[in-house]
Amino acid sequence: MFALTGIGHLVTNDETVGQGKLGVLQDVALVANDAGNISWVGKQSELGSHFDGKPIDVGGRAVIPGFVDSHTHLVFAGDRAREFESRMQGKPYAAGGIKTTMAATRAASDDVLAANVARLASEALASGTTTLEVKSGYGLSVRDEARSLVAAKTATSETTFLGAHVVPPDTNADDYVALVQGEMLDACKGNAKWIDVFCDRGAFDVDQARAILQSGAAAGLGMRIHANQLQQGGGVQLGVELGVASCDHCTHLSQQDIDALSGASANTVATLLPTAELCTRSPFPDARKLIDAGVTVALASDCNPGSSYTSSMPLVIALAVINMGMTCDEALWSATVGGAKALRRSDVGNLRVGSRADMVVLDAQSHIHLAYRPGVQQVRAVIRGGKTVFGSL
Ligand code: NIG
Ligand code: FE
Repeated sequence: MFALTGIGHLVTNDETVGQGKLGVLQDVALVANDAGNISWVGKQSELGSHFDGKPIDVGGRAVIPGFVDSHTHLVFAGDRAREFESRMQGKPYAAGGIKTTMAATRAASDDVLAANVARLASEALASGTTTLEVKSGYGLSVRDEARSLVAAKTATSETTFLGAHVVPPDTNADDYVALVQGEMLDACKGNAKWIDVFCDRGAFDVDQARAILQSGAAAGLGMRIHANQLQQGGGVQLGVELGVASCDHCTHLSQQDIDALSGASANTVATLLPTAELCTRSPFPDARKLIDAGVTVALASDCNPGSSYTSSMPLVIALAVINMGMTCDEALWSATVGGAKALRRSDVGNLRVGSRADMVVLDAQSHIHLAYRPGVQQVRAVIRGGKTVFGSL
């Protein structure tokens, strides 16, 4: 059990207790119980009847919910620095780069894969991410996808089977789709909560994606989709048709795509991944248009060695505000509650009584500073499940 006092600015994400969409409270205290959940939030003067130990004074700093990064590809070996370098000299990004990482991943031992996941998960934690989704997708064989999910499971329970990332080299596409739906799914489903498909140019078409997602759902997995990253296509509308938890990327959308997402806003989230656009020099998705149409928007890092080799949610937030027309409040909401909704969770992404005590103490007066001071480490401490897991208080 612990208590924080001297919280100058607390983002609860509970509109019923505080100001605005973020439910901001000023000059308050917070108590977490031994089970690692928030047990009380209120005026400091009333703390005495809720906590009898020695509270920790955060000195007027801002406290926000831990980020929920609902889209990462942390299971891989090697890197693609050369590919990045040539991209910066004008070579366009293409789905085919995934095959380079596939070769390195297949050649790596289980220990190397798990160590890479641990390294990137702790990097994410240091920038305030307390809930992380991790995908497979660089093994692309039954054995290598299965062991990728074992590695993913070492870092999170939000694991996603992405055998349908691309068709591996020298493989017939129909045979591969059948393998993903059959033997590979069987080998992976025990360690996966979700199934995902990269439905785009150079990857899988709408019919292949539909078949794979339906097989995953029949095996008990939740569905998500990579859609409309590289060009317009049917991925988003397929996602809405199937009721997936999240359509991710949404970079190239038609009005019909936006209408479909807005009609499904209670069920299907649009997850935007602005660091992928940053690192591939692509146009940013039109977050303003999506939000104004009533779409539920999440923000995530897409951390992977090809299109977005960063785990920094503060950077994602800064881009969303500076380049995508989101307000500071909307961007933080999308990086916390939005991510939680994309994972169909309500116990994380907010600091309500009963939710998990997952929070970030910022070296700043408010969450506005996340976008206002891009690239600056402003995470003083990270608390997850009631324990300080990064920094100090
Ligand atoms: O989300 N779009 C597909 N997958 C990743 C990129 C993977 C890679 O280039 O290695 C993404 O951007
Ligand atoms: Fe991705």
